[in-house]
Amino acid sequence: MMAFAKKYYVIKLALLLTCAATANTYAQDTAKFPLIPYPSQLAEGKGSFVITPKTTIVAASEFSAEAAELNNLLLKGLGKRLVVTKAAKPHVIKLVYDASISAPEAYKLNISTQQLTITAKDAAGVFHAIETVRQLLPVSVEKGIANSTLTLPAVIIEDQPAYAWRGMHLDVSRHFFSISYLKKFIDRMALYKMNKLHLHLTDDQGWRIEIKKYPKLTEEGAWRTFNNQDSACMKKAKDNPDFIIDKEHIIKRNGKTLYGGFYTQQEMKGIVAYAAARHIDIIPEIDMPGHMMAAINSYPFLTCNGENSWGKLFTKPICPGLETTYEFAQNVYSEIMDIFPSKYIHIGGDEVDRTDWGKSADCKALMAREGIKDLAGLHSYFINRMEKFFNSKGRKLIGWDEIIEGGISPTAIVMYWRGWVPDAPVKAVKNGNTVIMTPGEPLYFDYQPDQYSIDRVYHFNPVPKALNTEEAKSIIGAQANIWTEMIPSEKRADYMYMPRMTALAENLWTNQPAQYDSYQKRLIQQYKRMEALQINYRLPDLPNLLNEYVFVDEGRLSITNPLPSLTIRYTTDGSLPDAKSSELPSPLVISKSELVRVAAFTAAGTRGDVYNLNYTKQNMLGTVKIAPPKPGLVCNYYKAAFKQVALMKDAKVDSTFTTNAIAVPETVKAPSFGITYKGYIDVPADGIYSFYLTCDDGGVLKIGPSITVNNDGNHSAQERSGQVALKAGVHPFNLDFIEGGGGYKLKLKYSLNGSIPAEIPAEWFKN
Ligand code: ACM
Repeated sequence: MMAFAKKYYVIKLALLLTCAATANTYAQDTAKFPLIPYPSQLAEGKGSFVITPKTTIVAASEFSAEAAELNNLLLKGLGKRLVVTKAAKPHVIKLVYDASISAPEAYKLNISTQQLTITAKDAAGVFHAIETVRQLLPVSVEKGIANSTLTLPAVIIEDQPAYAWRGMHLDVSRHFFSISYLKKFIDRMALYKMNKLHLHLTDDQGWRIEIKKYPKLTEEGAWRTFNNQDSACMKKAKDNPDFIIDKEHIIKRNGKTLYGGFYTQQEMKGIVAYAAARHIDIIPEIDMPGHMMAAINSYPFLTCNGENSWGKLFTKPICPGLETTYEFAQNVYSEIMDIFPSKYIHIGGDEVDRTDWGKSADCKALMAREGIKDLAGLHSYFINRMEKFFNSKGRKLIGWDEIIEGGISPTAIVMYWRGWVPDAPVKAVKNGNTVIMTPGEPLYFDYQPDQYSIDRVYHFNPVPKALNTEEAKSIIGAQANIWTEMIPSEKRADYMYMPRMTALAENLWTNQPAQYDSYQKRLIQQYKRMEALQINYRLPDLPNLLNEYVFVDEGRLSITNPLPSLTIRYTTDGSLPDAKSSELPSPLVISKSELVRVAAFTAAGTRGDVYNLNYTKQNMLGTVKIAPPKPGLVCNYYKAAFKQVALMKDAKVDSTFTTNAIAVPETVKAPSFGITYKGYIDVPADGIYSFYLTCDDGGVLKIGPSITVNNDGNHSAQERSGQVALKAGVHPFNLDFIEGGGGYKLKLKYSLNGSIPAEIPAEWFKN
C-alpha cells in the first residue's frame, strides 16, 4: 500500500489553483461531486465547462484508445461524436501524457471554464479520469438520452489508488452467466475503478470454457440436469422472482432438459479485449486438484481410482500421483493462457478431500520418490509443480490459502478466504508470499447482505494487525467473491453485489475509511445512476427495525423512508407485500398481536427486502427478589462444537467464570466452544426494552420467562433483535452463545422506549 503524502499534495494543489476556490479533502456538495471512489484530492473550481458538438478532443498518441472511449461516452450524452484532432483549439478536451506522474493508474483532471485536461502517465490513469468525468455527467447520459450540451463543474482533481488489486470474482460454474452480463459486470467495475475480474470458470457443477483438446469438458461438462441447489432456487422463486432460473440457459437434448452453458474461446477472447479496453484484467481460475467433478465425469482417468463421487464434504480430486494428470492440467492451462493474457492465473487449490490420495499406490510411490511426508505436502507438490509450469510461460500462480498448508514457494500469490484460519495471511506474508485478501466476512458477496454489510465492507482493513508496515506491502489489495450456488439470475447477482461493491471500491481506492458519512450521501446520488443503468441493486435498508416487538396497550410503527423515491407498503394478513399493498401510514397503530410485513418499492415496482415485524401484546414483567446481589453474570464455558445453543445443556462444563461484559473473552482460544451467561439484569425504569444481539455463530437471549432474541444456529455474524416490557428492577437474564469456528463475535446492545442503541451498563448485571 502506498503511503500518501497528503501535506505535499495540498501545497502542490494550492499552487495549481489559480482561479479555483479553496482546496478541501472532500466536497460538502455531494450532489455536485457524487464521486465513488472519492478522489485523493479534489478542489472545487468556479463555473463550469460546457461540452458542445463543436468541442474537440486532442489526445497524446499513447491515449488514442482512451480518446475513443471518452468519445463513446460523450456520444451517449450528445448524440454526436466529437472530432479528435491534433490542432489545439480554445474550447478543448485534452488527454496529456506526463512522464513525471509516478504512481500507477494515477491521473489529474482539471476542468475549467475553458478546457478539460486529463493528465496521466499510463492509459489506465486516463481511463479512470474518464470514469470520474462520467460520474460528473448527468445520469441521463447512461440512458443514451442526447442533450444539446453537457455541463461539467469546474474542479481540480489529483487521484491515485491506494491498492493495486481491486478485485471482483464471479463464479460462472454454479450458475452460468451470459456474455452480455459479463460485459455489464465489467462496465460497472470500470465505473467504480475496480481493476481485476477473477472468473471462477470450472467447478463440480459445470465446466464453462471451451478446451479444444478435451471437447467433452464443455460438450458434457457444461450441462447438467437440475441439481439440489437449482431446486432450492426454484423454491425461493415462489416468493422472489429473482430466484427464477434463467430460461436462456435451459436446453433440450435427446428429450432431456439440460441447464448450463459455456464460453467459446472466441467469445472469451472478446470479453478479455472488452475488459482490457476498460483497464480490467481477467484472471481465469480452473480450480484443481479439487472441485473437478465436471471434468472427471468425462475424463475419469483423472482420479486415482477412476471413481467420481462426493466424499463427506467435497468431491474426489484429481490424482497427483499420475503423470497423465499433469499432462491434462498443462494442456488445459496452455489453452487458457492463449485466451487470457493476464500475468496472473488462478489454480484454485481449495477444499481438497485427500483421502483417496492416501490409498493410492501411485501417490505413495511419488511421495516416497520425492520425500513427501504427508498428504498436505502432496497437495503442495502438485501446486508447486504447476507453478513451475505457469512460470515457464511467464505467468504467476494464484491459489486459495489452503495451498500454504503443506509448504509453498514464496513466489506463489495467496488468496486468503478462510476466516477461521486468521493467521493464514500472516504466515503467507512471513513466508515471502504476496497476498490478496478475500475473507468470507465481509467479502463473500454471496452472503445475504443486511443493514451492516456496507459499513463492514467500507471499514474492512485489508492488512492483518499482526503485520508491520514493511510486511503490509505484501498485501496488494482485496477482492469480493460471488459464489453463485444460490444466485441463479442476473437480477439476483446484481442484488448481491450492488451497492456493496461501491463500498469496496472506495475502501481500496482511497484507504480513507473516515469518510463514511460522505460516502453514504454520495451513494444516495449513485443510486440514480444505477437505476439509469438498470442495475437491480439492493434497496437501502428500512432503518431501525426489530425482528420482534412487544406492546402493552398499543404499538406504533413509523418508518423513516431511506430514499424519497421509494414507497413503503405493508400487509397484516401474512401475505407478501406487493406493489398494490397499502402504503404504510405514519404511524401504523397496532392493537392486537399480529405479524406486520413491510417492504420498500421503487416507482417501477421493484421490491426491497421484506421485513417481518412480529408484534406481541404483553403485560409489563414484574421484578424478582434476589438475595444480596453480587456484580456480574456467572458463565459456564464448554470446549466443544455445538450446532444449537440448547445442545450445551447435556455437555460437560469445562470451566466457570464471572463477567459483566457480553463479549467473547480474549482468553478463549478454542476454535469451537459455548458459553452460558446467567444471572439478573437490573433495569432503571419501567419501559419497553429492545435488545440487539449480534453473534457469529448462534445466540439466544432470555429475559424473564420467554425468549427475547433468537439468533440461534451456525451462521456468520448477524444481528437479531427483540423487545420485552419490564418494570424497573431485577429480572432473570440468560444468554447462551455458541462459536462453531471463525467468527468469534458476540455483542449485545439495548435501547429503552426507542432510544439510540447503546452498550448495557456493566452494573446492570447481577448474580
Ligand atoms: C472457497 O470459498 N472455497 C475459496
